[in-house]
Amino acid sequence: MKNTGQGGGAGPQKIVRLAPTQNRCPSHVLITGGAGFLGSNIADALAARGDDVVVFDSLARPRVEENLAWLRERHPQRIKAMRADIRDAARLREAVRGAKAVVHLAAQVAVTTSVADPVEDFEVNARGTLNVLEAVRAVAADAPVLFASTNKVYGKLMPLEAMVRQGERYAPGDPAFAGGLDETTPLSFYSPYGCSKGVADQYVLDYARVFGLRSAVFRMSCLYGPRQFGTEDQGWVAHFLISALTGRPLTIYGDGYQVRDVLYVDDAVSAYLLGIDKIDRMAGRAFNLGGGPKNTLSLRELLRLCEEITGKKPPVSFDGWRPGDQPWYVSNTRALEDTTGWRAEVSIHDGLRRLSAWLTAAFAAAPARQKRELA
Ligand SMILES: NC(=O)c1ccc[n+]([C@@H]2O[C@H](COP(=O)([O-])OP(=O)(O)OC[C@H]3O[C@@H](n4cnc5c(N)ncnc54)[C@H](O)[C@@H]3O)[C@@H](O)[C@H]2O)c1
Repeated sequence: MKNTGQGGGAGPQKIVRLAPTQNRCPSHVLITGGAGFLGSNIADALAARGDDVVVFDSLARPRVEENLAWLRERHPQRIKAMRADIRDAARLREAVRGAKAVVHLAAQVAVTTSVADPVEDFEVNARGTLNVLEAVRAVAADAPVLFASTNKVYGKLMPLEAMVRQGERYAPGDPAFAGGLDETTPLSFYSPYGCSKGVADQYVLDYARVFGLRSAVFRMSCLYGPRQFGTEDQGWVAHFLISALTGRPLTIYGDGYQVRDVLYVDDAVSAYLLGIDKIDRMAGRAFNLGGGPKNTLSLRELLRLCEEITGKKPPVSFDGWRPGDQPWYVSNTRALEDTTGWRAEVSIHDGLRRLSAWLTAAFAAAPARQKRELA
């Protein structure tokens, strides 16, 4: 089936709402997963421009309570927090009530964890997203809804045999891919994480089509930047830099020639803010979001850049490929650019330097126990 990246041809046929939109004047932007890496950066930007923000987060990810404390300190009047789980539909509905926009980021975020516990992964990512959509349909049906999907919905894409080696990186043998992959790339969910996020992605588009929600999807490549507590399971750019800074051993899965486009978090934040402001142009559609062909890196190249920036090199070992690992993925972001005027502005060098500076400061400020954990 060809994927058009859109919720469907004829637009919403019939708006089916569970209950009338509440009379209460919409007041806040709700961010599920708002204490996480991307969420805390979006919350900070929204609060800085004068929006009230409700951070809905179970704090399931280690250390994200530090992001929440940072947000509260910076914006004591603007940030409210609700410690709760998106599997709890009643709490979610409470948080959605009165929302003027919903940014849905809360998720089980790692492929590895999804393989270890596919049922929990499904309940959080697929069922949890359905809970968000149902809550919006019930009590905030006019609110823009933006969902953080992933390039993993496109599956493994090209096999290794379709790659050619160019120095320290792979490139697709077929030059037609040089501009990156756009939203017409066929969906091919791979790994439980790919399946659960893919299901959620399709529900978000379908709720625009069938129920008339103003919902849109960002299919994101790799993000990096401050407030990212990267591990080898998720957040690999920060993970590499942390390893370089601390001398902690680093394992590369696969051969290290695999390529991704990477996007600095400020550029991702600007896409979400545009998404809220320009939802009428975006509803019912999926948009690839990443650094694009100008901002690509192989793992080996990243290792070298980390060494250049930090002056240190961690001990490195290699292990087998992980399920669904793509040898090459680069986003084509033309659809988002044409629809909203968005552009990726921050270069890899600038972005890595900023992340390195943040990690160095965070490391220096961390109590001794955290330093031991980090190293
Ligand atoms: N960072 C990336 O490179 C990237 C790439 C593609 C897609 N995404 C998606 O973007 C979103 C944000 O990613 P991130 O990097 O900020 O991840 P993150 O882990 O830093 O943030 C996710 C947040 O969700 C919270 N959470 C987890 N389970 C929850 C639950 N059941 N109920 C409520 N809160 C819960 C966590 O505590 C965390 O604060 C995720 O949906 C992720 O799948 C991220």
